[in-house]
Amino acid sequence: MEVLVLPTADDVDVRAADIVAEQVSRRPDTVLGVATGSSPLGAYRELARRQAHGLLDLTRLTCFALDEYVGLPAGHPSGYAAVLERELVRPIGLPPARMRVPDGSREDLEAACRDYEEAVGLAGGVDLQILGIGANGHIGFNEPGSSLSSRTRVKALSARTRADNARFFKAPDDVPTHCITQGLGTILDARRVLLVAQGERKAAAVAAAVEGPVSAMCPASVLQFHRAVTVVVDEAAAGQLALTDYYRFVAEAKHRLRQEER
Ligand code: GLP
Repeated sequence: MEVLVLPTADDVDVRAADIVAEQVSRRPDTVLGVATGSSPLGAYRELARRQAHGLLDLTRLTCFALDEYVGLPAGHPSGYAAVLERELVRPIGLPPARMRVPDGSREDLEAACRDYEEAVGLAGGVDLQILGIGANGHIGFNEPGSSLSSRTRVKALSARTRADNARFFKAPDDVPTHCITQGLGTILDARRVLLVAQGERKAAAVAAAVEGPVSAMCPASVLQFHRAVTVVVDEAAAGQLALTDYYRFVAEAKHRLRQEER
């Protein structure tokens, strides 16, 4: 696992955008896994800025969202389909059909989950998966206790996650109780993973994910099994990591090596 500790949240946004840009320059038709929540929004804005300045072409991406609430009417502004439409699809000029989001309004939710897994497979799998992390260590909506090999399925949201996400709804009771989320096994299938976290509120979850035991109690810790994970955090989110000096040493050494190669 590569851990990059950067001074500020803005630095996290820029570095995350750099990593996406590198991937897209290698493969313009990249399959990008996208997270919602507030953590990746700055990176999305930075990507849109680069697109607007002609520094990058993101219009050939295919995107798959991690998750969606169950039971919101189609087009609900807090639904992840609408959030991604506002925050990513429109700003980067992506053809809307190339943003796929699980269909949480379908009557047969199990079929919606199966279809989603199949669609990811048909697209050739996710090349780069962007993740945030919940304060309880969830990724996607895989709450503590999730099977470490789970696939896309319906999950009940924890009280903590519903409370955390109440800020996106008019009233706390409006937060749906269930969701469809890619499973931890689905996420592990991505070829590369980029996890971003900012702020002190995430420090315990980041430490548990990166340095704690691999455990369903911290679903993000399953990423320790993945061979190509980059964790990009600001100082505040890195606050409870034990090996920060080592991560800095590795990052500086890599940077020096890259400069020497030029
Ligand atoms: C949300 C999403 C996750 C997100 C996480 C953190 O509920 N389902 O994909 O990474 O919780 O959210 P935020 O980035 O707003 O802190």
